[in-house]
Amino acid sequence: MSMGEERVVMISGASRGIGAALAAELATRGWRLSLGMRKPVMPAWADPARVAVFAYDAMDADASVSWTGETLRTFGRIDAVVANAGIGIAKTVIEADDADLDNLLEVNVKAPRRLAKSAWSALASSGRGRVIIVASLSGKRVKSAKSGLYAVSKFAAVALAHAIRHTGFDLGIRATAICPGFVATDMARGLTSKPDSEMTDPRDLARIIAMLIDLPNEASVAEFTINCQLEESF
Ligand SMILES: NC(=O)c1ccc[n+]([C@@H]2O[C@H](COP(=O)([O-])OP(=O)(O)OC[C@H]3O[C@@H](n4cnc5c(N)ncnc54)[C@H](OP(=O)(O)O)[C@@H]3O)[C@@H](O)[C@H]2O)c1
Repeated sequence: MSMGEERVVMISGASRGIGAALAAELATRGWRLSLGMRKPVMPAWADPARVAVFAYDAMDADASVSWTGETLRTFGRIDAVVANAGIGIAKTVIEADDADLDNLLEVNVKAPRRLAKSAWSALASSGRGRVIIVASLSGKRVKSAKSGLYAVSKFAAVALAHAIRHTGFDLGIRATAICPGFVATDMARGLTSKPDSEMTDPRDLARIIAMLIDLPNEASVAEFTINCQLEESF
């Protein structure tokens, strides 16, 4: 594959956690990376000829258009978008106010939709465009009262992935909702007393996402659930 044909992936929330682990994994697999971060910092391991970092704040409604444009100017193509940036608010649906729900929906649902929309024509031009929505097992079941508000946003994120899959199928675009349980990142450390060793390693999640975006168009995966612990159905 010549340099001009090497695939390009946009990853939001690449500063730490799952996004940072995924960036490192995809770099080793030959992808060129466009990393979206609130405070752009080039990873220490990165080759600046193959990795670019851009300002991206999911709360900013214009950010996806500008980041997508910068990615196309830098690399000339977009083959995959990973909407990974996300927030959790550990409140019940009764404790929460509208502002909490607005913030969750903005970052976890509206921003991923805007990102896919901004990259849409480039993804279609790829012929094998991929959209990964990093949702959650909280998009599949409501495990507790305190995870309820977050679950409302992640159920919507799972639906978004399905909606993108339907919209893009004839264009060669495949979309997958990734639904992990606890992953050993700052987010989960704030929610559970489990040690990192008992949670999914973000590097293992990165390997799964790397596998999913590499599958051919004829192997569409709508949802992928991952868990570090036994639950009734996951
Ligand atoms: N960890 C888990 O157990 C778990 C389980 C299921 C699903 N998830 C999902 O996985 C995704 C990644 O989470 P993580 O576990 O890696 O959490 P994390 O370590 O807390 O990282 C969150 C990432 O999202 C970014 N982010 C947050 N708000 C943003 C905004 N407004 N604009 C742009 N970036 C923003 C953060 O950037 P800053 O560095 O600037 O804050 C950071 O890069 C999220 O969608 C989360 O809901 C996580």
